[in-house]
Parts: sequence; structure tokens; C-alpha cells
Amino acid sequence: MSDIQGFFRGLTQYGDPGFSKFLRSVFLSTMGVSPKDSSGPVVGIANTSSDYVTCHREMPALIEAISRGVAKAGGQPVIFPTLSLPEIMTNPTSMYLRNLLAMETEEAITTQPMDAVVLVGGCDKTVPAQLMAAVSANVPAIQVVAGPMIPGLWRGQRVGACTDCRMIWREHRAGALTAEEVDDASKQLAPTGGTCGVMGTASTMACLAEVLGFGITGSATASAVSGRRREIGELSGLAAVKAAQDGIRPSDYLTRESFLNAATVLGAIGGSTNAVVHLMAIARRAGVAFSLEDIDQRTSDVPVLVNTKPAGGNYMTDFDADGGLPQLLHRIERKLDLTQRSSTGETLGERLENIPKKPVTGVGLVEPETPVNASGAIRVLRGNLAPQGAVIKTPAATASLLKHTGPAVVFHSLDDLNQRIDDEDLEVSADSVLVLQNAGPVAAGMPEAGALPIPKKLSRQGVSDMVRLSDARMSGTAFGTVVLHIAPEAAIGGPLAAVRDGDLITLDAEAGLLELHVDDATLAQRLSEHETYSELPETRWSKIQRALVGQADTGCDIDANRIGGHDG
Ligand code: FES
Repeated sequence: MSDIQGFFRGLTQYGDPGFSKFLRSVFLSTMGVSPKDSSGPVVGIANTSSDYVTCHREMPALIEAISRGVAKAGGQPVIFPTLSLPEIMTNPTSMYLRNLLAMETEEAITTQPMDAVVLVGGCDKTVPAQLMAAVSANVPAIQVVAGPMIPGLWRGQRVGACTDCRMIWREHRAGALTAEEVDDASKQLAPTGGTCGVMGTASTMACLAEVLGFGITGSATASAVSGRRREIGELSGLAAVKAAQDGIRPSDYLTRESFLNAATVLGAIGGSTNAVVHLMAIARRAGVAFSLEDIDQRTSDVPVLVNTKPAGGNYMTDFDADGGLPQLLHRIERKLDLTQRSSTGETLGERLENIPKKPVTGVGLVEPETPVNASGAIRVLRGNLAPQGAVIKTPAATASLLKHTGPAVVFHSLDDLNQRIDDEDLEVSADSVLVLQNAGPVAAGMPEAGALPIPKKLSRQGVSDMVRLSDARMSGTAFGTVVLHIAPEAAIGGPLAAVRDGDLITLDAEAGLLELHVDDATLAQRLSEHETYSELPETRWSKIQRALVGQADTGCDIDANRIGGHDG
């Protein structure tokens, strides 16, 4: 139901409502707005652009288009800044600040007068943070993403951030590419503004925002530099005014079934493991029952149909040219609940009816009969090493390593890893299991360090993959037999902290098992000697994060229930 209050929503407290209203009129006049002009919905537009976020370089033009759409529909656009989270420029990791952006955005939405909000994000943690905020604020909300960059060309081959960055760096570590060649390639890997051009976390979250109902139909994939991206901006502005008028809030359309749809799409796009953490956080804020096992089951039950790296061979621009998310949804229709609604009130089925199914080329999207991968499984692992769960993306792994037992080579921290991984005296073989401790949310902000580098002495021998495990995350653009998100993390005394060099570890992805071959008594003895660990900076935010952040299985959100109140 519509609840349009415009600029006079939530008056500033001066102890005299009449004066508060008068004062607001005074200051609105500095915007050229008079009370009689301001009867239409006010649409806040959250701006996450900054010079640090290179992926958001095109955002000012996109925001201009959104404002145009809002104004066209009779609304009043108001752009407001929030924290920007540049994936590549943030130390120790942008994940360390995701919850801060979510809280800041929620407060910005709820304390300033707006009848609807357009969330403009793109780079990895921005969209999840904005969706978390929108769910908690529960106002009519439309998500607009920056859109992916377009690929470059190096040595006659298309290249793009960041799967190719990792391929090229791996070849450099193996001695196959010189530093000069790497430098030459670097100029082509991110040639335009826009988010990473493959199915990394940014593109994954763009697709999930659309299927959850926050993004308008077909909004996930158009490139950042295209005219279509600006058109999406304008249409999203129009949609935000409609959402305000209809009064449709996230709580009206987020259900268990809409999250199950999102999990199915996560599998079909071969999406990022980071989305597991983000979906859990968003679902918990929405009060929806949704588990790691739901993600396991849904992603295992659908083939990968999007032919983008790292699961496939091409780029987001190819997926977009093949029709983007709506064409994918047509191909997995029977696995979706088409009755789920969106921010504009339409059901998923109605949205798809407006965009008829069309043939695809196979470059960006393939037919179910010829999938990129038979399953998009993100398997959930449990066992004495991960009592609260861990995940592995099987399409990104080496099939022969998905069932493997080997001796552990343990790195106590990221520092330890950096110092010893390339030590020629490191006792390691291709059968070893590389273990990284103390890289979880409390210890280190959960950086994307889970795809540990293959030790140079092995990569020079041609070893390109090994079983690796940690409480860290990995980039959506990365690949390998990598077990991630082990919970509880080592820093708070999870069993991962008890692993020692030489312990045997079994990974069995099909059975969903991660087992440390150490008896219970020894495990308990080792954990009794454990000391809490954190290498986060000594700032106020860090103290809040360390004290209140949840573990990966629940989405790593801040648990405000743990805060005690004043005694009086
Ligand atoms: Fe921003 Fe990849 S660095 S999306």
C-alpha cells in the first residue's frame, strides 16, 4: 500500500513539529523545491562511486539516467553518497567493510526522507551490502548495477579481469611468462570501466539481485559502457516511482521460494562461492528459512548454461548478447517458482512473458542439451574439520582431486603463507593438502585468499592444481580444488586450528565430507591450547567486527543481538 510522504517523512526533532516542517521547507528551497512541488515520491539514489572504485567509473552517467527516469515519472530524485568499496584497493579486503556499508546504507535510507530507494552498486561487496540494507530498511527498493566491463585483446586473444589475470599470473609463477609480458598483458585485462567481465562475484550478485526481484528484467548483464546500461538506469528510475506508489516492500516479495530460485540461478550461471555467504546474510535479514543445504541441493540440480569464465570460456558481454538472464531463465523455467513477485509487483513468470524465448549462439549461453558443465554444484562439506560447514565449487575443481586424501602442509596465517609458500625447502608434493588457518572473518576479515598459490617448485614441474582448504573465501573469478568458508574459523577455536603438518585430511566432495584423521582426544587436546587470533587493524570498526561478526554458514553478518543494553 502506498505511503508517500515525500520530503516531510521523518521530521528532524526540534521539540516542535510545526517548526521542524517549516525549517525543512526553508532548506528545501535551496534545492529549488517548494512544498507544493514536492507531492510526488522522493526517490533516494545511493551512490557508491568514488575514484577508488574503478569499476564504478561510468556510474555518474548511470545515476543521471536514473534521475531522469525518476523525474519523468513525477518523482523527485535525491542522490546521496555512501561508502564505496573498491575490491582491489581495500586492505585487508572489501569483505571487512561489507557489513559497515550495509549498516550505513540502512541508516541512510531510514533516517532521510525517501519513499523509495535506488541502490546503485556493482563492485563485489556493494550489491550484497545494499541488498542487506534494503531488506532491513524494508522500503520500496530497486537495485541497479554498474554493469560489466568489456574484454580487451592480447596476442590475438580476448582477455578480461579477472580469470585471465589469474591465468597469466599462474603462468608467470611457473616461469612461462616474463615480468615484461605480464606488464604488457595488464594493459588489456581491464580496458574499460565496469565490473569484472566474467562471472565473478559482481556479475553473480547482479544476476541474483535480478532474480530475487530487486533488479528490473534484463538489468544484470548490459555492459557499463553501453547505451543499454543507461536505458536500464532510466527504466529503473521509472520503476522506483512505481514501487513507491504501489508501496511494494522487500518483505512483500522475498520468500523461501525466491531464495531457492536464486540458488538455482547461482548453479546455472556457474556463479561465485561468495554468493553463498551473501545469500545467507540477505535471507537471514529477511527472516527466511534458507540453509547451506538448500544451496547445495539447488546448485547440484541444475546444469551450468552460461558460457562465461571461469566455468566457461567467454565473457559477460557474450552472455548479454545472447539475451542475458531472461534467456537463461527461460531454459531453466521448470526448476523455478514463477509465481514469485518482484519490486514492481510482477511475478517472475509475467516478467518472462514480456521477453519471449529466442535462439542462442552458444558463445554466451548454451542450451541444456549441451551444458558448459553438467552441474553448477556448490557442494557443502561437513565433517570433524567443518562442523558448521564448508563449501567447494566443483565445476571449478579438478575432477580427479574431488576425492582425495593427503598430508597437510599448514600455514598458520596469511603472513606465514606469504613467507613460506615458495620456500624451496618446504616439504610439499602434489598430493599434499595446503591448509591456511586464521583467514576467517574474525581473524582477517575473510579475504579472498583461499585459492592458495601452488608452491613455485611444484608449478615449475607442471602442477597446476592441488587440494587447498581454509576459512577464507576466494574470488568468483578463481578456480581450483579449493575448500572455502570452513566454519567455525580457526581464530575462534574451530577444528581447523588443530591441524598440524603431516595430518591426513580427506576431501570427498560427492559424499559432502571433510575429515581430519586425528582422534577426538588429540583434537580436543590441541584445541585446548588454542589462542584467539586476529590480524585486523586496531580501529573502532575492527573491534565491532571482531566482537559481533557471524561465521560463514550464517552469512558473516553483524549479530546485533549480542550487544548488551545500558543498565540504566
Ligand atoms: Fe570491482 Fe572486480 S574489481 S568488480
